[in-house]
Amino acid sequence: MHTLTELPADKGAAYAELAASLRALLEGERDLIANSANMAALLFWSLPDLNWAGFYLLEPWRGDLLLGPFQGKPACVRIEIGRGVCGTAAARLETVVVQDVHAFPGHIACDSASNSEIVVPVIRDGRLLGVLDLDSPLHARFDDADARGLESLVRVLVESLGR
Ligand code: SME
Repeated sequence: MHTLTELPADKGAAYAELAASLRALLEGERDLIANSANMAALLFWSLPDLNWAGFYLLEPWRGDLLLGPFQGKPACVRIEIGRGVCGTAAARLETVVVQDVHAFPGHIACDSASNSEIVVPVIRDGRLLGVLDLDSPLHARFDDADARGLESLVRVLVESLGR
């Protein structure tokens, strides 16, 4: 059973510790759903001030993002590439940090408690698999250190899937 420990105050150190925990948690399993489910739970229960943490996965038949494993309140099911914060990160293939979701054109409000958001694309061999989405009730909860840290955690997830 995985136990959660108190993270250091320094964000870089906290993400390094989370990367080690995530690597241990995903060890020996290559399934995207199982591993993204455990990653969503680890992030939701380890990082402070989140109200939602989870994945939208590329659904190849319709070519949009489909709700995947998450922790938090029920969320919207399908998001077109290019729409909202998730669809924008998926279209640009880069991390999007939104300090105030109410000022982001096209933001899709799933939980009215959300005020800031970060979305990190999950890319394997140059192909989009989906996005990691974190929401916070705080304004400007996420910064560059979160972006770099979460990108490193997404790399751990992608490596766990094998080749
Ligand atoms: N706010 C997101 C939608 C997903 S929820 O936050 C869980 C967006 O604008 O894409």
